[in-house]
Amino acid sequence: MIVTRYSQLVMPQDTNVIGTLFGGQMVSWMDIAAGKTAHRFLKGTAGEVAVTRAIDAMEFKEPVHVGNWVNFTAKIVETGHSSIVIKVDAYKESHEDDQILACTAMFTMVSVKKNKDGSYQKVNHQKSI
Ligand SMILES: CC(C)(COP(=O)(O)OP(=O)(O)OC[C@H]1O[C@@H](n2cnc3c(N)ncnc32)[C@H](O)[C@@H]1OP(=O)(O)O)[C@@H](O)C(=O)NCCC(=O)NCCS
Repeated sequence: MIVTRYSQLVMPQDTNVIGTLFGGQMVSWMDIAAGKTAHRFLKGTAGEVAVTRAIDAMEFKEPVHVGNWVNFTAKIVETGHSSIVIKVDAYKESHEDDQILACTAMFTMVSVKKNKDGSYQKVNHQKSI
C-alpha cells in the first residue's frame, strides 16, 4: 500500500479575511500530497506524470491557524485503467494539540504521457493496488 506524507507550516500569507487558513491554499497543498502519491505509484509505468481529474467529498472540518503545522497523509484507495483515486487527510498540529483532522477529500488523478509538442495524453498505468 502506498501512503505518502507531506507537511506545511501555515504562514500569514496563507490566510483568508478572517485570519484562518484559506481553503484554496489547503486544496492546493492536498493536491500536491495526492500528486506525490501518484508520482510514487507511477514509477516503472508508462505514465510519466498524473494530473488531477476530479476532487470529491471535500470537507473542511476544523479551522487551521497561523503557526499550525498541517500534516497530510495521501493513500491510494482505488485504481482504474488510467485513474488513481487517492484519499487525502490533513491533520493540524499546534503547541496545544497533536493531530486533529482538519480537512479530507478524494482526489482522482489520471496518468498521462507528455508529447514532444508540449501536449499530453492519457495512458493506462496497468497497475493495481
Ligand atoms: C486528464 C485528461 C487527460 C483525461 O482525458 P480523457 O480522455 O478526457 O479521459 P477521461 O477524463 O474521460 O477518463 C480518464 C479517467 O478518469 C476517470 N474519470 C473521469 N471523470 C471522472 C470524475 N468526474 N470523477 C472520477 N473519475 C473520473 C475515468 O473513469 C477514467 O478512468 P479509467 O481510465 O481508470 O477508466 C483530461 O480530462 C484533462 O486534460 N483534464 C484536465 C486536467 C487538468 O488540467 N488538471 C488540473 C491540473 S493538474
